[in-house]
Amino acid sequence: MNIGFLGFGAMAQAMSCGLQRKREEGGLILGASARDAAKLQKYAQPLGVRPFETNRELAKWAQVLFLCVKPHQVAAILQEIRGHQRRDQLLISVAAGISLDDLMAHCEEGAQVLRALPNTPVRVGAGMTLYSPGPGLKAQMAEMGRELLASFGLVERIEEEKMAAAGSLTGCTPAFFCMVLDALADGAVHQGVSREAALRLAAASMKGTAELCLITKDHPAVLKDQVTSPKGTTIEGLRTLERQGLRSALMEALIASCVKTRS
Ligand SMILES: NC(=O)c1ccc[n+]([C@@H]2O[C@H](COP(=O)([O-])OP(=O)(O)OC[C@H]3O[C@@H](n4cnc5c(N)ncnc54)[C@H](OP(=O)(O)O)[C@@H]3O)[C@@H](O)[C@H]2O)c1
Repeated sequence: MNIGFLGFGAMAQAMSCGLQRKREEGGLILGASARDAAKLQKYAQPLGVRPFETNRELAKWAQVLFLCVKPHQVAAILQEIRGHQRRDQLLISVAAGISLDDLMAHCEEGAQVLRALPNTPVRVGAGMTLYSPGPGLKAQMAEMGRELLASFGLVERIEEEKMAAAGSLTGCTPAFFCMVLDALADGAVHQGVSREAALRLAAASMKGTAELCLITKDHPAVLKDQVTSPKGTTIEGLRTLERQGLRSALMEALIASCVKTRS
């Protein structure tokens, strides 16, 4: 199957890395187009992605076309490739904030469109990708899209009107969690742990806790209580976090990201 990336920046590169394992199984060929040919060559070549000279050539070639340009560039690109796309092509837009209605308005009638929101852990196959099928998307196309997105990690269908809120939760939190990791590592460095070890241990603990939540489906409060003994060290730390307003800071940060997404 020919998979094309219209735009080959951070997100397209992360997704093409995420597709490596599926590619090793055979049957996937990746291609990409961008504005700057030299830059495209530089990033595409090491990933085994075939560079295309024009967006139209890529659109003619790809069975699945990922739209990976910045949101303000979407309309112009869709106009440019209109009438030059392969028949029965599945177009997957990852442009944040661009609705299915906006996308459909620039596509030919009957276009097979799916809107997706991956996050940066797709690079290592640990992404959380949300998607909403466009109007008239055939079941077999939707399944093909879902399968492809599943090669980046977890995938979940979501009603489009919830995309801004849920997308902020999955798209912005990698940055929030990195800030948490960095801060925790600072604390450990202050107490004599090397920076390298502190980051590794903090990240592994975060990953393990996240997996514990996903696998057991226990509420985080239950898991928290399991490591909180009376008069112990954990409750001392939790008290400090509450005093410093951690919960409120995180809640407000997420709400601020959602509001910005909608504006
Ligand atoms: N980063 C994330 O965490 C994330 C998460 C979910 C969704 N997204 C979405 O992913 C999309 C891409 O984001 P990004 O972070 O990957 O942006 P980026 O790194 O700036 O990449 C944008 C790409 O678009 C290319 N481009 C610009 N104009 C073009 C044109 N006329 N024809 C062909 N290619 C063109 C750029 O090529 P040149 O460099 O040659 O100009 C570049 O390769 C955005 O819509 C964003 O909302 C991002």
